[in-house]
Amino acid sequence: MKHFLKIEDFSSEQLDKLVVKANEFKKVRYQNILKNKTLITMFFNPSTRTKISFDLAITELGGHCVTLEPGKSSWGIEINEGAVMDSEAEEHLKDAIKVISRYADFVGIRCFPKFQDWEKERKDLILHNLAMWSEIPVVNMETISHPCQALAMLQTIKNKFKTFKKKKFVMSWAYHPKGLNTAVANSASVAASIVGMDVTIVNPPDYDLDPYFINLVKENCKVNDTEFSMTNNMDEAYEGADFIYIKSWGSLKQIGNFQPEIHNQYKNWKVDSNLMKKTNNAYISHCLPLRRNMLVTDEVLDSPNSLIYEEAENRLHVQKAILCELNNEWYRGK
Ligand code: CP
Repeated sequence: MKHFLKIEDFSSEQLDKLVVKANEFKKVRYQNILKNKTLITMFFNPSTRTKISFDLAITELGGHCVTLEPGKSSWGIEINEGAVMDSEAEEHLKDAIKVISRYADFVGIRCFPKFQDWEKERKDLILHNLAMWSEIPVVNMETISHPCQALAMLQTIKNKFKTFKKKKFVMSWAYHPKGLNTAVANSASVAASIVGMDVTIVNPPDYDLDPYFINLVKENCKVNDTEFSMTNNMDEAYEGADFIYIKSWGSLKQIGNFQPEIHNQYKNWKVDSNLMKKTNNAYISHCLPLRRNMLVTDEVLDSPNSLIYEEAENRLHVQKAILCELNNEWYRGK
């Protein structure tokens, strides 16, 4: 693979191969495969897990990582092509990536949409422009999608069930006081559909994910001859579920106009042990960070069926697998 941008760029077989490789890294953590290689990570938004796990992924394989925070500890970066740079940013993404390409072997980017103009933001131009201008492999560390998180989720599911077939995956919206990024829900739902799980997405009315992602999930389920459903009813969604992915996201109907009076109507969208009784003794996970007892109760989060820490750990292993695959593709004899 040339870049790691979107989960939908990969087949079930390719994702499975990455999970197998990630499990090898889970067994043997330190290997000198990426000796002297450098990863530059660019964080336009905060992070804990992504920052740590990418730095450790390359370090534990013999390379090292340099972290940039544009506009904070490094120069502000303009991301719009053709912009007259008369505001805060001192440098254009095009120039930054050309320079980074001369220093490093991989670049990762985190740049959330601002949820101000979804018609523009849904095109994920920063990611695509970066990939176009870059002379080194690009990894999406979360833009409008979060493929690294989705791959870690697949590793987590595979290690529990050994197979994805005939397993019911539920993408379950939960309440959070802010309108959060849809990225994790987008990639996780698509990932589950690619590998052949039955997929149900449950969210309040007017909180549907972008049709691009819904249609991808629908199409994959059709091709795989698996079940797909969307509902506004949590009880119905949880019936017989094997794996519940809990996530909050903002309504695309409230882009540029967040409406707390509508959003706060859904404070009762919280996962608790009563709801879990409807499932097939399902496992739950969440990408973290997470506000306890807002989205999900302590009782569920601290139960043996909670895989939140397992999935967070797996970020480290899958990202090693991704970097190694990219290195194989781009090998320049270094
Ligand atoms: N799940 C995840 O990406 O965590 P961070 O935002 O802490 O990186």
